[in-house]
Amino acid sequence: MDKLIVEGGRPLYGSVAISGAKNAALPLLAATLLAPGLHTLHNVPDLRDTRTMLKLLEILGVQWERTGKTVRINSDRLTGVEAPYDLVKTMRASVLVLGPLLARSGFARVSLPGGCAIGARPINYHLKGFEKLGVTTHLEHGYVEAIVEGRMRGGTVYFDIPSVTGTENVLMASVVAQGESVIKNAAKEPEVGNLIDMLTAMGAEIEGKGTDRLIVRGVDRLHATESTIIPDRIETGTYMIAVAATGGSVTITDCNPAHLPALTEKLLLCGVNIDTATDSMTVSCPEVGGRSLCRLQSVDITTLPYPGFPTDLQAQFMALMAQGEGTSIIHETIFENRFMHVAELIRMGADITIEGSRAVIRGVGRDKLCGAPVMATDLRASASLVIAGLSASGTTQISRIYHLERGYENMVEKLQGLGAKVWKVRE
Ligand code: EPU
Repeated sequence: MDKLIVEGGRPLYGSVAISGAKNAALPLLAATLLAPGLHTLHNVPDLRDTRTMLKLLEILGVQWERTGKTVRINSDRLTGVEAPYDLVKTMRASVLVLGPLLARSGFARVSLPGGCAIGARPINYHLKGFEKLGVTTHLEHGYVEAIVEGRMRGGTVYFDIPSVTGTENVLMASVVAQGESVIKNAAKEPEVGNLIDMLTAMGAEIEGKGTDRLIVRGVDRLHATESTIIPDRIETGTYMIAVAATGGSVTITDCNPAHLPALTEKLLLCGVNIDTATDSMTVSCPEVGGRSLCRLQSVDITTLPYPGFPTDLQAQFMALMAQGEGTSIIHETIFENRFMHVAELIRMGADITIEGSRAVIRGVGRDKLCGAPVMATDLRASASLVIAGLSASGTTQISRIYHLERGYENMVEKLQGLGAKVWKVRE
């Protein structure tokens, strides 16, 4: 197993290019199951999770090839209808094939994902949504079996909580249902918008992109198409926070600053400079005492569905607040178990207590965290530890970094390009 060594205390300078969004690539890859033909997807990040999704598509009969960032997919002949436990347990987003398989084949068998490091994460909203479209679902031997006699029919689906993959799954099923479907309290995340654009290019009729009410007029058939994955806003945010934490000045390119309204606002309140253009931004820390390392104002955050503060940046922001001047309260409202990084940050000198779904972070100030051996528990917790390590004095060793490889393309190389001293070793 690989571990990451980080020698901290160096500001980051230079520029870094953002990859395609993992959480957009996964539903768009799944959507290629909807229509036979040759699909082309551009800007597909090469990550453990996108490789898992491609492996799943292969099991279902799809052929694909990658040239650089472009993946060409031939989904002419589907030969399977099952997402096996072995794949689903490594990536819960495998459930995204349920909607497209139901639309294409009328039957799907997908392993129930079970809990994961950040919470129970059920898929009951997905299943309730399918049932509103005339699908029958039942659980057998740990697998969800979903079947529809004939064609799905339009229906009204209401999400108690705006589930991202739930909205995507139901959307992919409803585009070929007979009649009109309405998805109420739908997720408004940019990744959902990316999927709507692809489905529309495939011939679907969807109204309400970017709102919480989607109206879908089912069509008889869809066709293969060419689409581009949007820039990864969570990767962008992770580098923004890293610069705020280490000091320095970094231009982040190939990104969409408009997708990060909440983080941008909070970093500005902390005292960080952010200059945005259409597809790039420069994040820098004002000079204090001859160093580009501004004093850091502590601010509070509450994680919320888009456009609120993303839960996927909560752990990274906590690593920053650990070095603030004052007290910050971080309220995690999306997942019930997303504070696994707290114990590791404490090992590095952070002063944090957890009270239910809130973490109270008493900032210890700049230059006070110190390197330590720590363990990554999930993807975003790993990124938080990298940020803490980059700004701590001395050496941090992060084990179980396979989590990082699920969602950050070439993170080590990208950080090295910004002057960080970070490298991978075999444990
Ligand atoms: N929920 C249910 N039942 C459901 C679906 C969701 O109770 O059937 C609850 C969840 O337990 C959670 C809330 O609803 O409390 C919202 O979860 P959501 O369904 O939106 O999460 P998701 O679709 O499973 C996606 C991302 C996550 C990201 C969340 C929230 C993908 C592939 N995954 O998950 O990304 O944290 O939305 O924004 O899009 C990550 O990239 O590290 C990651 C975990």
